Amino acid sequence: MLTVALPKGRIAEQTLELFEKAFGEKIVFEDRKLILETKEFKFLLVKNQDVASYVLHQAADIGVAGLDILEEREYDLVKLLDLGFGRCKISVGMKNEDSLDLNAPQITIATKLVNITKRHFAKKAMAVKVIKLNGSIELAPLVGLSDAIVDIVETGTTMKQNGLKVVEDIMDSSAHLIANQNSLIAKKGEILALYEKINAIIND
Ligand code: PRP
Repeated sequence: MLTVALPKGRIAEQTLELFEKAFGEKIVFEDRKLILETKEFKFLLVKNQDVASYVLHQAADIGVAGLDILEEREYDLVKLLDLGFGRCKISVGMKNEDSLDLNAPQITIATKLVNITKRHFAKKAMAVKVIKLNGSIELAPLVGLSDAIVDIVETGTTMKQNGLKVVEDIMDSSAHLIANQNSLIAKKGEILALYEKINAIIND
């Protein structure tokens, strides 16, 4: 029996659709229930950002998580497959009238993605002060909380509507199928069978 952590949030719908196709059955969590058991699988309904934690600690054998979160956490997980949806970029944004001052003694960045931000600016040898926020990141530069932001850009609409622009792209992200390292050994056959099915669907 495989335990599968499915994300709520922005990649939830496409993930469910993919798994329904792979398993040939509807995956419907009853009312407020967070566990759904079928003959072969146990599905867990998990907040987007928490899927990697469930898989890391083997509370789930496999799961679906955005590459942004995997890069942010740097967990020892196996990335099995790029699922190709949930595509977005992680970018640096600033007010339209501002630009990155490479010589500034320090710049303040608001973000959810603290580690990605620190690594990116360390590579450029720029000193940054990072303010961790949990959402509505685009607000920070508008009210003087930060000089810039590092955030997910999908359509670019949120930045545009708030008078911000992308000054630099850091990485591309998309949803990935991930597995726990021990599960991959203990349940190799089951995980590979699932991998094959999903791989066939996304390459269809
Ligand atoms: C993300 C991100 C941006 C927005 C980008 O936020 O933080 O705010 O989506 O999408 P766009 O380029 O298509 O406008 P999310 O909706 O996940 O909510 P949050 O503010 O809670 O992070």
